[in-house]
Amino acid sequence: MSDLIVLTCASGKQCSHMIPLLYKEETPLSRLRLVVNSKASLDRLTQRYPKAEVVQADFQNPQDCRKILDGATTIYYLSPTFTPHEAHMGMNVIDAAVAESKKKIPPSKFQHFVFSSVLHPEITKMLNHDRKRLVEEYLVESPLTYTILQPSHFTDNSIGPLLAQRDADAPVYMAPYDPTVKFSFTTLRDHAEASVKVIQERHRHFFATYQILSTWPMDYYEYIRSVGDVLGRTFEVRQMSYEQAVETFCKRLFPGVESLADVDLRNREGPERMLLYYNTRGVLGNPRVLEWLIGRKATTPAELAKLLLSPAAEEDN
Ligand SMILES: NC(=O)c1ccc[n+]([C@@H]2O[C@H](COP(=O)([O-])OP(=O)(O)OC[C@H]3O[C@@H](n4cnc5c(N)ncnc54)[C@H](OP(=O)(O)O)[C@@H]3O)[C@@H](O)[C@H]2O)c1
Repeated sequence: MSDLIVLTCASGKQCSHMIPLLYKEETPLSRLRLVVNSKASLDRLTQRYPKAEVVQADFQNPQDCRKILDGATTIYYLSPTFTPHEAHMGMNVIDAAVAESKKKIPPSKFQHFVFSSVLHPEITKMLNHDRKRLVEEYLVESPLTYTILQPSHFTDNSIGPLLAQRDADAPVYMAPYDPTVKFSFTTLRDHAEASVKVIQERHRHFFATYQILSTWPMDYYEYIRSVGDVLGRTFEVRQMSYEQAVETFCKRLFPGVESLADVDLRNREGPERMLLYYNTRGVLGNPRVLEWLIGRKATTPAELAKLLLSPAAEEDN
């Protein structure tokens, strides 16, 4: 039977690491449907992956959700970042998958709903976790066969500014929250490998929820020091004010934002609450489940820095 694998947020960070692994495998028996929201992403992915089907959709629209699931075997669902509609969007996509799974003519091929959620969605103080908790609840109560993956914040998020300063006289890391707070990090290449395995092995992972973590808890001083050792540099770590951190995040997250006054309060509340939380508490987990899944050691921040500095990585850029 031919497979149709649907990936949402296909232009985003997580899928950018997954698509090359799945695209390599693409044969007439396994096809990819890449779902994006903007025309710019539609054009970019169509050019980059000519053998894949690239479609535009808005998960607030139930018809779009049915369209992306039409004829699918598997959906790998990621929700757009920090939208106040996140729970509603997830429920729309789950409803569309249930409708797809019940089709009689032609008979449904739908088999697997994979949700890439977040580590500890039960933390209600952060809206981006709480909204995913509601999506998880809706999924586990649905008639679908599913797998839930729970990554933590990505190792890759902070590494760019460090590598960019490898030749600076006085390198500085501007921490957006208290650098003594500990986190478990998820490295995108590990997350992608685990995700592809779950998609390809399918039945083996039905009804499982996995923490997808690459490190034991570590604070930002340890993270920065380990990457600094690879570069042969010592970074000074400074902490931004809370207000500065909220503004920096909002500018990065929401296109066209020049100051906080431009950000709708409903959009701003997500990053505000997350940054407040991160100033006193981290999000902690255990990398053993990921290592069991991918059958190798997970990638630490120092190892990621080495990989990104390798000649092969330079060629990819
Ligand atoms: N950043 C982290 O450290 C971290 C850690 C764990 C979990 N997460 C979670 O990961 C998820 C985001 O995944 P990502 O980081 O891979 O993506 P991302 O890089 O943040 O990109 C956002 C994606 O959302 C799409 N999108 C925006 N509005 C949409 C809409 N109305 N309908 C459908 N798609 C829409 C965008 O498509 P266009 O390009 O077409 O606009 C883009 O593909 C979030 O739920 C976040 O909470 C993030």
